[in-house]
Amino acid sequence: MNGNKSNSPGFPYIAEHIFAPIYPVIADYIIKESRVKEGVCMDMGCGIASLGIAIAEITDMQVYSIDFSGNMCVLSKEKALRHGVSDKVVPVLADVHLLPFGDNCTNLIVSRGSVFFWKDLPIAFREIARILAPNGQAWIGGGFGTKELKEQISEKMLAIDPEWHNNAKERLSPENIQAMQKAGGETGLACRTVQDDSGFWVVINKEE
Ligand SMILES: C[S@@+](CC[C@H](N)C(=O)[O-])C[C@H]1O[C@@H](n2cnc3c(N)ncnc32)[C@H](O)[C@@H]1O
Repeated sequence: MNGNKSNSPGFPYIAEHIFAPIYPVIADYIIKESRVKEGVCMDMGCGIASLGIAIAEITDMQVYSIDFSGNMCVLSKEKALRHGVSDKVVPVLADVHLLPFGDNCTNLIVSRGSVFFWKDLPIAFREIARILAPNGQAWIGGGFGTKELKEQISEKMLAIDPEWHNNAKERLSPENIQAMQKAGGETGLACRTVQDDSGFWVVINKEE
């Protein structure tokens, strides 16, 4: 995985100790922008479920934190327990390319920093569109919440990973952005791109 070199402390440590302040900011932003705050939320490629947990802390949503790594699922369960939201955040071991859920079952899908690792964007986006409920939204992309947080985190990341800037640039290369937008468009649902201080997001809307 990019940014997870052998001398790096590993993503769970980074999420807990370096990225930690970004998740409540991103959760707040997506909930306000989407205006979806009830029903089911899924955090795709959740890592240790930092974003899903931040959403559970500010809404009454039932959150499923999805990752294809068993270790991440264990860590996300432990983190949900520490945050007192284990009844609201349930880990699910699954691959975003083949989701074990029925059609139209999810009101909000969030996915931060995972899409860059998905092997087949059209298949993954089709799965996301399939499980999205009418009036539901999917926010797929990445970001650091605000410009200031991004600067602070870049400084800390550079100290442990000299390739940090190059990797970040590669993740948001024009080709990658185009591929994400194309996969979003091919779902046949309303799709737009949001690129601002919160980050880069492909937003899919299943209009009723
Ligand atoms: C960089 S981490 C981001 C974690 C988390 N979203 C965050 O922002 O803290 C990427 C995560 O995506 C997961 N992932 C990558 N490809 C996946 C796939 N096809 N299906 C499910 N999870 C995937 C990885 O296991 C990893 O936990």
